[in-house]
Amino acid sequence: MKTALITGASTGIGLALARELAARGWRVALAARRTELLEAEVAALTAAGRTAMAVTCDVADAAAVAAAVAQVEAAWGPIDLAIANAGLGDPKPVTQMALVDAEYIMRVNFLGMLHLFDAVRPSMLARGAGQFVGVASLAGLRGLPMSAIYSASKAAMQAFLEAARIELKPHGITVTTVNPGFVKTPLTDRNTVTKPFMISAERAGVIVANGILRGDREVNFPEPTATAMRFVRLLPNWLYDFVVGIGARQLTGPGKQP
Ligand SMILES: NC(=O)c1ccc[n+]([C@@H]2O[C@H](COP(=O)([O-])OP(=O)(O)OC[C@H]3O[C@@H](n4cnc5c(N)ncnc54)[C@H](OP(=O)(O)O)[C@@H]3O)[C@@H](O)[C@H]2O)c1
Repeated sequence: MKTALITGASTGIGLALARELAARGWRVALAARRTELLEAEVAALTAAGRTAMAVTCDVADAAAVAAAVAQVEAAWGPIDLAIANAGLGDPKPVTQMALVDAEYIMRVNFLGMLHLFDAVRPSMLARGAGQFVGVASLAGLRGLPMSAIYSASKAAMQAFLEAARIELKPHGITVTTVNPGFVKTPLTDRNTVTKPFMISAERAGVIVANGILRGDREVNFPEPTATAMRFVRLLPNWLYDFVVGIGARQLTGPGKQP
């Protein structure tokens, strides 16, 4: 039985993905800060005949992530699939950016991923096998007004994962970047913007599991948003600024903030 560790598995995409992998015969370690949610889910999965473990950890803390990986390896042996999914966003114009909040978003979204990578890298390199996955976002593919820090954190993830994918292939390690569009989760429930083509977390779990298990380089979804973002990436800067600027001025222009 193969072992997966998923951060941010207490709710949303991470939880749906943990359930999906468990249903496909994987041993899943669910990591997040809210132990009670993780333990309730592990009890439900175990009752359904799956193999699961709860690992409390804050991905912002490198030592805590290393300890979580060590805990899983001690119980089940090497981790075959490590998924850095924990993340957060705080939609806000840059005129109102608080450095302390921006640093925290980078710490959880980007450094949180590196903390996991650093912890699983030795055993994956030693075995010449394994898969490392980062859940970034379609929002990382261009700088999005109102989400500058979030976009930047996801773009940093994408750049790291792309470079790592090329470097690690000769070492037998597969790297996959997951770029969701809108998925209904507690994260999007907190955000009041319109969310075109939003899908359920359960559907996202199936799409992401399929892409990961195929060994895809990237998993971009839902398809309409992913296709739109492919097109938007090709726009010259002047056109991107013009089109996106129309909407952005309504939210972030002079006189729009306190
Ligand atoms: N939903 C979307 O539309 C969407 C779109 C693009 C990308 N994404 C990305 O998908 C990932 C999952 O998001 P989601 O929508 O499923 O949101 P969510 O339901 O809010 O889940 C976020 C998860 O991250 C965990 N988490 C947050 N901070 C953490 C920390 N410091 N240490 C450990 N765990 C932490 C949370 O658990 P605890 O609070 O228990 O720690 C929770 O399990 C994120 O990286 C997000 O940026 C989501």
